[in-house]
Amino acid sequence: MSDLVKIRRPNASASQEVPQAGPDAPAVYMETFGCQMNEADSALIAGQLGRAGYRAVRDPASADVILINTCAIREKAEDRVWGRTSQLLRHRADNPDLVIGITGCMAEHLKDKVAKRAPYISLVAGPDSYRSIADLVDRARTGEAVVDVKLDKAEVYDQLDPHTDDDGVSGFVTIQRGCDKFCTFCVVPYTRGRERGVAPREVLRHTRVLAERGYKEVVLLGQTVNSYAYEDVDFAALLRTVAQVDGIERIRFTSPYPVDFSPRVIEAMAEEPKICPQVHLPLQSGSDVMLERMRRGYSRQQFLDLVGALREAVPTLALSTDIMVGFCGETDDDHAQTLDAMRQVRFDFAFMFSYSDRGITYASRKMDDDIPDAVKKARLREVIDLQEQHTRASHDAMIGQTLDVLVLGPSKRGDKTLGRAPTFHKVLLPPGAGEPGSFVRATITGSTGRSLLA
Ligand code: SAH
Ligand code: F3S
Repeated sequence: MSDLVKIRRPNASASQEVPQAGPDAPAVYMETFGCQMNEADSALIAGQLGRAGYRAVRDPASADVILINTCAIREKAEDRVWGRTSQLLRHRADNPDLVIGITGCMAEHLKDKVAKRAPYISLVAGPDSYRSIADLVDRARTGEAVVDVKLDKAEVYDQLDPHTDDDGVSGFVTIQRGCDKFCTFCVVPYTRGRERGVAPREVLRHTRVLAERGYKEVVLLGQTVNSYAYEDVDFAALLRTVAQVDGIERIRFTSPYPVDFSPRVIEAMAEEPKICPQVHLPLQSGSDVMLERMRRGYSRQQFLDLVGALREAVPTLALSTDIMVGFCGETDDDHAQTLDAMRQVRFDFAFMFSYSDRGITYASRKMDDDIPDAVKKARLREVIDLQEQHTRASHDAMIGQTLDVLVLGPSKRGDKTLGRAPTFHKVLLPPGAGEPGSFVRATITGSTGRSLLA
């Protein structure tokens, strides 16, 4: 039994449907950059604006307000946002009153620099300002330059329902905000503030709202999701309680922090059939010297031991990771150790990056970003090439297996049905294979390199 069964079942009718605004309501167009946390935050903003009488539009040309929810994690991410904002600016030509605003991590990171770099942006709202986002947008629409980037140690958006525009099958539930780890390269603790857990009753309320709307899968979100703590409830207890929600058949979480993977969480994964056999476990580097300099809190061997324990407990586990090359002082030998760790683990999938200096972090202040761009590029290429081999091998190993695939909807090109395997692999099924939200038994027959064919 879970530690949480005592929690009162909330009144489902208390969930806040977003009212349908009429055609004369002011129109908001939103774009989201970055991680799943940002996607979940965009849904929160959409819910707030919907309740305040705004209507969402899919075409920026018909918008009164354009909001860009931004990512500051790497220089490239910021460059992409700047490129896109200046593109969107052309809509001002037809609508001089158009409000263009940025929300999220760049708003927090760049604060007053935004006004200098992009004076046409009239609204800047950080990740803890969304409770009053409608008010901020209202003010920007009167011509005021609005900046609200205060971080709030307590804000977890209790009682606010997001308005999602997703597939209606797999939904996000934010269970934690901020990050306390302060890895030396990372801007997140500065842009999103201190770590705080969402109350279990609120996590359950959100999960039940999704279940009532027909969702079959939830993805629990946090920057270090498994360090979740709320009073005496830890992540393992929360997982087991979420698993009791009727209608939700699959549970995933991202991203766990390697150091905080407790035996209780591993046990819950092994015992609870709804928790999917999939973990995203960011390695960053295979060199102990680099891991120390990054202040990740684990050694290469501790990471490998954790992978062993997870695979032993969950034999069908799929593992993905984040790798970062070219961090301050990284030698050829450090890099070789990263490749070697990748060969030892053979991740099923990876996100791979070159280090970029974020201006505000410990590394930026105290270390030398001394790896030439060309070297970073070459190392990243090697890491990507190696991972491509591993990804291909992971796909090949699945050929012939028969799996329960959750149908998400039509594929992007429309000629297939898109589904998701328990391991998170994308699966392309024949057209008409099943309705969104249904499960189909499918035998894997091949791979496109990105998706499995069934
Ligand atoms: N807690 C999250 C980390 C979010 S950042 C998680 O563990 O998934 C996502 C990834 O971006 C990190 O794992 C790291 O690989 C990469 N990253 C973070 N800061 C970076 C920087 N300054 N330069 C390049 N990559 C970075
Ligand atoms: Fe960033 Fe490290 Fe937290 S990578 S999000 S400071 S766990």
